[in-house]
Amino acid sequence: MNEQVFEKVDDYINGLFFDNDPALTYATENIIKNGIEDASISPVQGQLLQVFAKACNARKILEVGTLGGYSTIWLAKALPDDGKVITIEYDAFHAQVAKQNIDHAQLGKKVEIKVGKALDILPTLGTEAPFDLIFIDADKPPYTEYFQLALTLSRKGTIIICDNVIRNGKVLDEQSTDEKVKGVQRLNTFLSTCKEVKATILQTVGSKEYDGMVIAIVQ
Ligand code: SAH
Ligand code: DHB
Ligand code: MG
Repeated sequence: MNEQVFEKVDDYINGLFFDNDPALTYATENIIKNGIEDASISPVQGQLLQVFAKACNARKILEVGTLGGYSTIWLAKALPDDGKVITIEYDAFHAQVAKQNIDHAQLGKKVEIKVGKALDILPTLGTEAPFDLIFIDADKPPYTEYFQLALTLSRKGTIIICDNVIRNGKVLDEQSTDEKVKGVQRLNTFLSTCKEVKATILQTVGSKEYDGMVIAIVQ
């Protein structure tokens, strides 16, 4: 087994379940054209987010970390007509490219981009709560604080997903000095004793680096 196999299997899964979507292709090309490092989720991970959105009949979704809106488009497309995604992005240029991509996908009326630091914006979202699904995918050091704020915006049954919590297996290194690794280790440890959720971690392989996603259900 190696990464080439994982990539080919991603192609295989896409061949089975993914009708190439021009709005997503446009978004990826626009992210690259604008010189933004493409940390977007993969198409198979987008499908996974959609399965979870459908599983909880999501009408209100919160995303932390928009980048170019690639994951936002996947999430918005899983919503009913009256559904809404609120997505938080710190970098104004990323938010601008995301807006182009979301408008191009004709999802402008379903998506609200909030520009600012997630730690500042999350405490202001009480009137929009509860969210049915929350996807955390911004900077890694405050992941535990993002998760705790997400809990305040949740109800019983809300699904909370956090990207990049395995980091190529680097989470196993307890002596790590990498702030991103330390951030996700702190979240994973917090979740191991958090009574408010039932959680696990799904390892993710495929066209992106070996990583993992927290899947948590608020109870
Ligand atoms: N969810 C996106 C990828 C997000 S990459 C996708 O899969 O398509 C992480 C994003 O988080 C970057 O755009 C980065 O600018 C943003 N970010 C970093 N720190 C942040 C903060 N404090 N608050 C909000 N967003 C932040
Ligand atoms: C990083 C962030 C991401 O959201 C991602 O999917 C991959 C890597 C990072 O900051 O290293
Ligand atoms: Mg990510």
